[in-house]
Amino acid sequence: MSDILIMGMGYVGLTTAITFAELGWTVTGFDPDMMKLNLLRSGDLPFYEHGMKQLLTKQIAEGSIRFTEQPLQAIQDHSVIFLCVGTPSNSDGSANLSYVQQAALWIGQAMDAYKLVVVKSTVPVGTNENIRKWIVMNQATPVNFDIIMNPEFLREGSALADAMNPDRIVIGSDEEAATATLLKLYAKLSCPVIVTTPQAAIMIKYASNAFLATKISFINELARLCEPLDVSIVDVAQGMGYDPRIGNSFLKAGIGYGGSCFPKDVDALLYAADRNGLTLSIMEQVAKINRSQVVHVLSQWEQRVSSFAAMTVAVLGITFKPNTDDLREAPALTLIPALSAKQAIIRVHDPLAKLPANLLTDQVSQYESLEGALTGADAVILCTEWSDYVKADWSKLKASLNGRLFFDGRNAMDRQLLIRLGFEYYGVSHNGEYPSVTR
Ligand code: UDX
Repeated sequence: MSDILIMGMGYVGLTTAITFAELGWTVTGFDPDMMKLNLLRSGDLPFYEHGMKQLLTKQIAEGSIRFTEQPLQAIQDHSVIFLCVGTPSNSDGSANLSYVQQAALWIGQAMDAYKLVVVKSTVPVGTNENIRKWIVMNQATPVNFDIIMNPEFLREGSALADAMNPDRIVIGSDEEAATATLLKLYAKLSCPVIVTTPQAAIMIKYASNAFLATKISFINELARLCEPLDVSIVDVAQGMGYDPRIGNSFLKAGIGYGGSCFPKDVDALLYAADRNGLTLSIMEQVAKINRSQVVHVLSQWEQRVSSFAAMTVAVLGITFKPNTDDLREAPALTLIPALSAKQAIIRVHDPLAKLPANLLTDQVSQYESLEGALTGADAVILCTEWSDYVKADWSKLKASLNGRLFFDGRNAMDRQLLIRLGFEYYGVSHNGEYPSVTR
């Protein structure tokens, strides 16, 4: 028996568990996946996240975190239950709530005393009512419970830092006593707390991700115009970012956003609008720009070389962003087949992730070492801005290369340095040599 039960040991669940254990609570993590639990019990992670393995090992030794595969017993033993199960997209863009429904069913079946159910999974507005219904339907006898929506805003790669130092805590609750219980759990964190309705709490989460995705698609679309005008989008973003009303974050042009949240949450909002007879035309364009960004950038680069056919290209980074091994919706997974269709020979490298087997063909191979991927390559395409590439010693690495073309899909490289080293550098609307003077 511990203070908190967390259902779902994915990214959000495990980070939440480790965070609460760090805040001094005892935590039980439930997941039905025995392989995952065995890994966790031995202090290992099913994914890569900086600093998490060390904390987990420490917390297991201290006894502040434990794991179980028994949902009914775990629910009976706890009065505070966090729902952190996955909500993947269905093919029509709607959120797949089957894991949420299963968890609600277990809660209903097992509860014999009051429970506070805190929902961290990203679910459509109104789902709190469905969860209530699913719990009640499965109760043998009526027992009181509360549901609070408490969305999570952590980023992969900095999940623990985000969870320990949040910008805000959003609580969607109709019950003051339940809100007070949750506030007590978070008492050691100092940040603004927004208490609102469950529906608004969920919308805050969707709106935040949709707005960040909008900033990225805005800058990527503007970059399309900047390219023929020979304007550096990096300088434009920098110039805009000094206006505090705009801010400088999420204005990095590149081959597009990926990951488990932005694409899924934008689709879920579009689906919700459609169900309500509305059109979110800005969000439609955000998704459309992002879907076409890889192909657009690739065709701009192709104009520089006339054709990628028979060219050997080293593709660096396949994860959707650095410091994670997550390949979900990663732009590189669109770029590699598109480049392959242009008859290029592709040599892939990533510091952590392995290319899915279906993308490995006669034309596409993955290398363990960066040098291996670069050897004999005519061109380099940077898809993910891992520091392994950005900070690499390109004066040495260039000796392994056959050509001098460098395509920077994240505008992340030291372009002046690469040019000085003799590379022909092309970014995303950030090409050749610009003065870039900042005082
Ligand atoms: C995001 C939100 O930031 C987080 O608050 C939410 O809880 C989950 O979704 P995450 O998906 O981990 O987090 O990654 P994030 O750092 O936001 O990046 C998302 C994608 O946008 C990446 O593919 C990244 O490369 C891309 N991106 C980000 C850009 O293309 N340009 C930018 O300026 C910023």
